[in-house]
Amino acid sequence: MENIVIPKHIAIIMDGNGRWAKEKGKIRLEGHRAGANALENILECCGKIGVKYLTVYAFSTENWKRPKMEVEGLMNLFSRYLDNKKKELKKQGVKLLVTGAKENISEKLLKKIEETENYLSDCENIVFNIAFNYGGRREIVDAVNKVLEKKFLEQNQVAENGGFVEEKAENFKITEEEFSKYMYRPEIPDPELVIRTSGEFRISNFLLWEIAYSEFYITDTYWPDFDEKELEKAILSFNKRDRRYGGLNAK
Ligand code: IPE
Ligand code: IPE
Ligand code: MG
Repeated sequence: MENIVIPKHIAIIMDGNGRWAKEKGKIRLEGHRAGANALENILECCGKIGVKYLTVYAFSTENWKRPKMEVEGLMNLFSRYLDNKKKELKKQGVKLLVTGAKENISEKLLKKIEETENYLSDCENIVFNIAFNYGGRREIVDAVNKVLEKKFLEQNQVAENGGFVEEKAENFKITEEEFSKYMYRPEIPDPELVIRTSGEFRISNFLLWEIAYSEFYITDTYWPDFDEKELEKAILSFNKRDRRYGGLNAK
């Protein structure tokens, strides 16, 4: 892929595992297993071609609505993935981040996530960010709450020091740039390219804040069939885009 710009950050909505399985007469969990294999391949590929950040949507805050058996299957799959792949990830220089809400996830899995993140924390080839129990609205609301808490504590501090507590609304204003720092992963730049598999044209509560100017690529391919050829197609399509950011044509 000569003269091709490789996006620094690619984000993927890995969709279609269930339909892939159904079409093959398999149970949904088989689809998720095949999806995990596809992810392994794409992560390795991204590392090789120089993608610096790969964010994947693995479990949404809405996916708890699924039958208990499927949810448990997904939790077990993730847990086994961490156990079985951490050495390989280290070899590939993959720094792992797991991003999302903590509630409803078992203590055991939370501990394993933390240990694996620590184990891979000094890896530098690629940042692999797994959105797990993630919701875009939830992320924004969590950020708002962090801002409010900070402002509240600051006000209390001033009052405790005998200062005058200024109640003017202007004191509670925040800029976009400042607000970004309260999102889950302020150190990760916004994705240039968002890929969704399985032909659905929706965002399903993924990275609402970060995708303001991302390019979208949607393919009918189900996630378990998404391979390096498909990734190449997505990157080539990205290279044809004219990114104007509200300004005038740059080309
Ligand atoms: C995506 O595949 C994986 C998760 C949401 C966990 P789906 O399970 O949504 O597959 P479809 O959309 O039912 O085919
Ligand atoms: C989005 O897929 C979430 C993940 C890929 C983890 P869904 O299958 O849950 O999304 P909807 O329900 O089709 O919008
Ligand atoms: Mg789906």
